This record gives sequence, structure tokens and C-alpha cells, in this order.
Amino acid sequence: MKNSPIPRLDRHPELRQHLLKYCRLQPGEIWRDPSGKHRVGCLDAANPSHIHKLMAEERATLAIHDPPYNLVAFDERELFEYIAWCKQWVENTDAVLTENGSLYIWLGADQTAGFQPLPDFMIMMRGTPFRPRSFITMRNQRGYGTQKNWMAVRQELLYYIKGEPNFNIEAEYTDIPKILRGYYKAVNGKVTENFERSKSQNIRAGNVWVDIQQVFYRMEENVNGCYTQKPLKSIERLIRASSQKGDLVLDFFCHAGTTLLAAEILGRRCYTIDLDPIYCEIAIRRLEHFRATGKTGWQNGNPFEEEISGDGELQSMLHQQQEMKTDERQQMEIF
Ligand SMILES: C[S@@+](CC[C@H](N)C(=O)[O-])C[C@H]1O[C@@H](n2cnc3c(N)ncnc32)[C@H](O)[C@@H]1O
Repeated sequence: MKNSPIPRLDRHPELRQHLLKYCRLQPGEIWRDPSGKHRVGCLDAANPSHIHKLMAEERATLAIHDPPYNLVAFDERELFEYIAWCKQWVENTDAVLTENGSLYIWLGADQTAGFQPLPDFMIMMRGTPFRPRSFITMRNQRGYGTQKNWMAVRQELLYYIKGEPNFNIEAEYTDIPKILRGYYKAVNGKVTENFERSKSQNIRAGNVWVDIQQVFYRMEENVNGCYTQKPLKSIERLIRASSQKGDLVLDFFCHAGTTLLAAEILGRRCYTIDLDPIYCEIAIRRLEHFRATGKTGWQNGNPFEEEISGDGELQSMLHQQQEMKTDERQQMEIF
């Protein structure tokens, strides 16, 4: 069995730098899918002219954004700066969303710093044309901070709308069978039990999602090199609920290209961008890999396998990193 993962690229700047030469997009450029469906741009979400370049006169019915959460120390900005930056890409989204459109935003809350930036972001959103519709929590299986606190397992997802977009309720049903019987209600004079009244034998996801597995290295959809990949199933649920076949879906922070892939699988079009040429390349390769193999990621491999096998310098760099990892592990075992 092949086993050639690469480490998180954000933690290995020299590896990232080395892989840049294999990326087809330079900052400012856009990849157009030969089949005419999708676009991937190496563009800045907060720059109105970049978004105009991506969209021209086209409009999307749905946007799913997963920005950096302002939680990672080296990437952290002053809160007011972060919120001003968010306001800019929300305005850019508004400019290219149809009159009846849906906007989903994944965001975090730092429990060690006043829960920033979630509440600040929500307040900022009150000053935009978007209306709040739901506040979803997705439960991760693995958490952190388990010894002296409640284990942190939540991922927040905000749902906003503009106008009156469609909502496909069928998309909301999970694979979990209903077990609670006996909730009686009179309908047209007849007493009915909840199973008789419901559309499905399964429960609805509601605004607390407990049925989605967090991406980890043993899953087919895992993309080695990436570090904040959202589960395909979560994005598919949003696309099914808030768009129709053929619609255009937007994602301003593509990273592993999850929205792009979900759109391909569900017959939607997707225009997506990332500031970093590496993640643009990974997203394009993930789509191409899926089209060629039907696979949704690289469980035991990585998006740059071919280049790595022909590049001695790159191989020794990865080898050194693997040795370093083993050394670190041995030291941890000693102490
Ligand atoms: C949290 S990740 C998105 C994860 C994605 N949903 C997935 O499933 O893989 C955020 C991404 O935003 C990108 N990014 C940061 N600032 C950006 C900006 N101003 N414009 C576009 N992309 C940006 C980062 O390079 C990173 O890849």
C-alpha cells in the first residue's frame, strides 16, 4: 500500500516554497475548467476588483465561506482589523449574490479571549443587507482541553439570507432513524402519532449536527498538506439545501477545494478562490483527481506525488522531516 503523505504546508514554509514551482496559478490569475463549469482564482476575497474579475456579470445563488478564524497566534490580527476585513469580503459577496441568495459562514470563538471573533462578526453582520436565518453547530468527534474544561468539540456555522431564497428541506434529513414515538397531535380532528405525520423515518439535522465525521488521515477525502479541511458531507448538505442543479456556488477561501468538489459531485458550478497559489493548485488537482479516479482525496498519498517522485531535493526534504518527526516522538517518549 502506498504511503506518501506530506506534512501540513502552513508549518513547513520551505516545503511550501519548493512546491510553488509546480503551481499553475500566479497571484491574480484564474483557472477556467476545460469543461466550462468551474473557476479557481488566485485572488484576494477582500479585494472588490478581484471578485469582479472572477465573476464578471455572473451571479451566484449560494456562498459558503470558511475564512481564517483569527485564532492562530502567528496569523492573528487586532480584532477591529479582522472584523473590518470580514466586512469587506461580506460586501464583495453581497455584490455578486443573486437577489434571493444564501450565505453560510464558518467561524470560531476563542474561549480564552472573550469568544472573539464570533460575537463581533455577528454584530458587524447587522449592518449589512443580510438577514440572519440560523446558527448551526457541528459537533466534532475529537476535541481539545479535556482535563480542566468541557471538551471543545463545536464548529460554528452561520446562515444568512438575502431576499427569499429556496430551502430544500429534503436535504436536511440525516441517516439517523427516528426512535422517539408517541408525540401525539390532532390533525383535521384525527389524533396522529409523530411517525404518521413526518416526511421521513429519519431525523432532521436541525441546527445541531452530530452525524458528520471530522476529516482525519484515515479517510479517503483527506488531503495531506491541508490543515483546515471541512468534511465533504457538511458542504454537500448546504449545497443541497440552498441551491438547485446548475446553480453557481461561491467559496472565497477554497483551501482543499471542498466546495469545488461538492459542487462537481452535485451538478452545480463553483467559482472559488484562495490567496495562496498552493491551495488553488491543490483544489484544482483534487477536482482532476476525482474526475480521473472517482476518489475524493489522497488518504495515503498527496496532491504532488508525481512531482515528488521525480524530484530528489524534494524527497530528501520530506525524508528529513520524517526523521525529525521520529526524533521528536522518541524524545517525547523519553521525557
Ligand atoms: C479555513 S481555510 C478554508 C478551508 C476549506 N473550507 C476546506 O474545506 O478546505 C482558509 C483559507 O483561506 C485562505 N485565505 C486567507 N486569506 C484569504 C484572502 N484574503 N482571500 C482568499 N483566501 C484567503 C487561506 O490561504 C486558507 O487556505
